[in-house]
Amino acid sequence: MKAVVLVGGEGTRLRPLTVTTPKPLLPIAGRPLVERQLVWLAAHGIDEVVLSLGYLPDAFVEHFPGDRFASMALTYAVEPEPLGTAGAVRFAAEHVGIDERFVVCNGDVLTTLDLGALVDFHVERGATATIHLSQVEDPSALGVVPTYPDGEVEAFIEKPAPGTAPTNWINAGTYVLEPDVLARIPPALATSIERETFPRLLEDRGCVYALGTGDYWLDVGTPEKYLEAHADVLAGRMGSPPVLDAREEAPGVWLQGDVDLAAEASLEAPVLIGDGVAVAAGARVAGSALGPGASVGPNAVVDHSVLLSGARLARGALVRASILGVGASVEEDAAVLDFSIVGAGACVPASTTLTGGRVPVAASAG
Ligand code: GTP
Repeated sequence: MKAVVLVGGEGTRLRPLTVTTPKPLLPIAGRPLVERQLVWLAAHGIDEVVLSLGYLPDAFVEHFPGDRFASMALTYAVEPEPLGTAGAVRFAAEHVGIDERFVVCNGDVLTTLDLGALVDFHVERGATATIHLSQVEDPSALGVVPTYPDGEVEAFIEKPAPGTAPTNWINAGTYVLEPDVLARIPPALATSIERETFPRLLEDRGCVYALGTGDYWLDVGTPEKYLEAHADVLAGRMGSPPVLDAREEAPGVWLQGDVDLAAEASLEAPVLIGDGVAVAAGARVAGSALGPGASVGPNAVVDHSVLLSGARLARGALVRASILGVGASVEEDAAVLDFSIVGAGACVPASTTLTGGRVPVAASAG
């Protein structure tokens, strides 16, 4: 079966990380999000994937040399302009000539959904479209999907005011579609599948169904969710080891390649320390992922954070619940706190504090 993976969005909520790297190519514990998704699709029998591209398309083409990933053939459908989630599906399907049942997924979803069970449910109901639902505590920022007892969708409600949602089952961004859906999407026009195409399909009864499951699911859209994805993957919620080539030095302490860890450094599980990382004496790394070549200076602290490759903390610096982009640096005694993001190559000056802030990508890195 073929799958269309939507990876053409700009990822604005994760800027400035996404200024230089499209969101699906950002690492989640050492492995790009889209690779984690492709592994999941392959495990469920998908043999051909169309990457639906728009923003920074060359980065994907360069990332997958040979246009293959494991057992799957990859095709690229590059939109001339953003077509929204439905327009992108039609464009991608036409690009490869999809004329049979297929799967669509948002490229920012991390899940252990049993895709086969979703397809079986779709076939049993004779559905035109079937949507995976996940249950969340607060659906007020999401699209909720109440259903009839047999799973037929009753309505789509976008961003219900707090306390008014009839259900907390939300559209989880994986769909099984019959090719007839494509004719319901206007060609070459920006259209949203969740806000326009699916609600219109409800005009005919018996077409749109949804299956709620308790599988692991996370939409990696914001800095908070990016850090949550790391915490979950490091805690083994997507399987163990968190990334294929990691070795477990002590319970929950994962190392890759050659690392330079001072005997007086403290590592508090779960942590992932990438190849070429250096952690100096007196430094503390807790609940964090350090990308290849990152360095943590003497008495510096990395707490529940992510350092992308080559990021650097000088002596006494602190990074808590934040993300440092590729080659970013935090100078002596500076602090980066509360879901801050420091762009690629940017520098946080010595003895300053950044709280919930964003530092743009350095001119040299953009
Ligand atoms: P934000 O800008 O932070 O909202 O992130 P985003 O660009 O990823 O948007 P959103 O989370 O709403 O998109 C859900 C999925 O659809 C993501 O995997 C996007 O890459 C993808 N997507 C959104 N818009 C388009 C589009 O116009 N074309 C294509 N091909 N994909 C899209």
